[in-house]
Amino acid sequence: MGIRHLMSPLDFSVEETEKLLDLAQDIEQHRDRYSHICDGKRIATLFYEPSTRTRLSFEAAMMNLGGKVLGFHSESSSSATKGESVADTIRIVSCYADIAAMRHPKEGAPLVASLKSGIPVINAGDGGHQHPTQTLTDMLTIRSLKGRLGNLRIGLCGDLKFGRTVHSLIESLSRYEGISFVLISPEELRVPSYVRNGMRAKGIPFEEVVRLDKDTMSGLDVLYMTRVQKERFFNEADYVRMKDFYILDREKMLVAPEDMIVLHPLPRVNEIAVDVDDDPRACYFRQAQYGVYARMALILTLLGIEVKK
Ligand code: NCD
Repeated sequence: MGIRHLMSPLDFSVEETEKLLDLAQDIEQHRDRYSHICDGKRIATLFYEPSTRTRLSFEAAMMNLGGKVLGFHSESSSSATKGESVADTIRIVSCYADIAAMRHPKEGAPLVASLKSGIPVINAGDGGHQHPTQTLTDMLTIRSLKGRLGNLRIGLCGDLKFGRTVHSLIESLSRYEGISFVLISPEELRVPSYVRNGMRAKGIPFEEVVRLDKDTMSGLDVLYMTRVQKERFFNEADYVRMKDFYILDREKMLVAPEDMIVLHPLPRVNEIAVDVDDDPRACYFRQAQYGVYARMALILTLLGIEVKK
């Protein structure tokens, strides 16, 4: 088989995704079994856009597996400032590392890189398009905390237009039975039409609403909050108008379902008040921890490494 990359969550079938999540769960439970499985392997993290969780969790994931890391964390510290293309960069990186994770402000840049790459390339977020490893993280979190990935009513709130994590999560969950979505956003920040058409084509029930209140939250199993993606706005005034559109605070949580978990890919800005953090339903910090296990499982899967039990 040729080199396997991850550009969109749909690159893995439902069966492959389940297998990867099972592996992540096994890693969570038996960390030491995996601590040397990638001895001598290297991951390159090629980040042309800022990141805390995604880059550091990829690096932590490889270190937890016994491997090493190299890379850059901003466009300005790479040869991109001299005009080098991602295609040339990945050719070079293929000589230095066994696998690469790339984040880029341009949609499709990791895909372009993967076409010229000698090693697996992981899309670690491309512009406002997709973020498949956040989706693996979200799926692992939901499956671990709710016990299932089907038969769920999921609310997604905030910037559904530019929020790439939302696009990937909708596409991935749309493959499960009994999924329905409540899409909560200002008019201007509704999901892109390709995402809406994808749900329609699969017959997934969804509603688009503007308000985040008791009615919209009623019956939700998961509320997935997102920040307004400041860096994707064309003008500051629009961002300022939108940025505090939703604030989930303790008062709103009083009228939310008792078994509704709150997720957020983070970073949060103002959309979740800090007074929600102590609520047992607030699971966004645990979600970040699941991200390490999901990425460890992904690295092993793409490198074709199996643990001997
Ligand atoms: C997200 C991203 O980069 O798209 N963050 C992350 O990877 N955890 C969400 C965001 O930046 O708002």
